[in-house]
Amino acid sequence: MRAVCFEAFGAARDVLREVELPRPEPEPGEVLVRLQTTGVNPSDVKKRAGAFPDLLAEGPVIPHSDGAGIIEAVGEGVPASRVGQRVFVYQAQHGRGAGTGAQYVSIASHRAPDLPDSASFEVGACIGIPIMTAHRCVTADGDVRGAWILVTGGAGRVGYYAIQWARRFGARVAATAGNPADRELCLAAGAEYVFDHHQPGWGAALRSQCGQPMDRVIDVEFGANLPEVIDCIATGGVIATYASTRVPEPAIPFRTLMFMDLTIRMVIVYDMPEDAKMHAIEDTQEALAGGQLAHRVAEVLPFSAMARAHELVEAGRTGGCIVVTLP
Ligand SMILES: NC(=O)c1ccc[n+]([C@@H]2O[C@H](COP(=O)([O-])OP(=O)(O)OC[C@H]3O[C@@H](n4cnc5c(N)ncnc54)[C@H](OP(=O)(O)O)[C@@H]3O)[C@@H](O)[C@H]2O)c1
Repeated sequence: MRAVCFEAFGAARDVLREVELPRPEPEPGEVLVRLQTTGVNPSDVKKRAGAFPDLLAEGPVIPHSDGAGIIEAVGEGVPASRVGQRVFVYQAQHGRGAGTGAQYVSIASHRAPDLPDSASFEVGACIGIPIMTAHRCVTADGDVRGAWILVTGGAGRVGYYAIQWARRFGARVAATAGNPADRELCLAAGAEYVFDHHQPGWGAALRSQCGQPMDRVIDVEFGANLPEVIDCIATGGVIATYASTRVPEPAIPFRTLMFMDLTIRMVIVYDMPEDAKMHAIEDTQEALAGGQLAHRVAEVLPFSAMARAHELVEAGRTGGCIVVTLP
């Protein structure tokens, strides 16, 4: 099979190599998926750049966790009826080197759930990280019906889905976005108010315009945004955060947070509880089958442009998910 792999950390163009590898055989409990698409996410490019120094200890890595395709064979213990099913794949390159940047991946059957016919393989490559992270951020701390939720970076890969999950589960939504087009997208996705996160003071402005504080905040830049979030979150509120890139080691104003009785919920999609993963998958399948999620697929690139796909994600401001098709 054709695959992309890296055996050293570094810039995409320097270390990503196109290779020919033996097609994997499904082990007991696994399915062999003929991939049509692979999704490129920030964690994939961070891993390739060396964020996890032990990653290459067991040899070259085929990157990417997300993808979509068709089951071609099954291992012992998996019903033969799965052969031919359209599936999405999640967490392929987590705790192992065999990701979705290849024509085939062999993976535990439950990591290849059915992809509804109405969802394209491009959309299937956006589920594992963007859609499932957003689902966890919205659902991890209980019922959100009637709650006010702020989604920072609401036009980002995760944020865009977070707005939609929050609305789907009955919350009212405010969001932030960095430019007018993204603010329009947040409104179209269901936010009632949108603020510019590049304008200092957006937290206080949001609180005053919404007329009430936020019960929950889903935050993409925890350290950078904490002062603004404190200005708009309710006492007893929850901050569910999934990244803090600009301020990687934030200082915590302990007394302020304590006297507001705040909860900080850290979200990591790879290690969220298995029942939360199953919950996210079921809700995603239902929403996709009903055509009830809007998607932002910014670019669909050919296999030969894998390094370019990594560079786009690294540069940021992609305007949605970056997907690569497999030959
Ligand atoms: N913990 C997890 O499980 C998990 C899962 C998925 C992703 N992540 C991480 O989350 C981060 C975002 O991932 P993504 O794929 O959603 O990236 P993305 O598509 O690039 O979205 C990031 C969004 O954040 C916005 N933003 C930048 N600074 C902001 C600020 N101070 N406040 C609010 N929004 C701000 C950006 O808008 P502008 O550029 O217009 O300002 C952009 O819309 C990455 O670091 C990624 O590694 C973590």
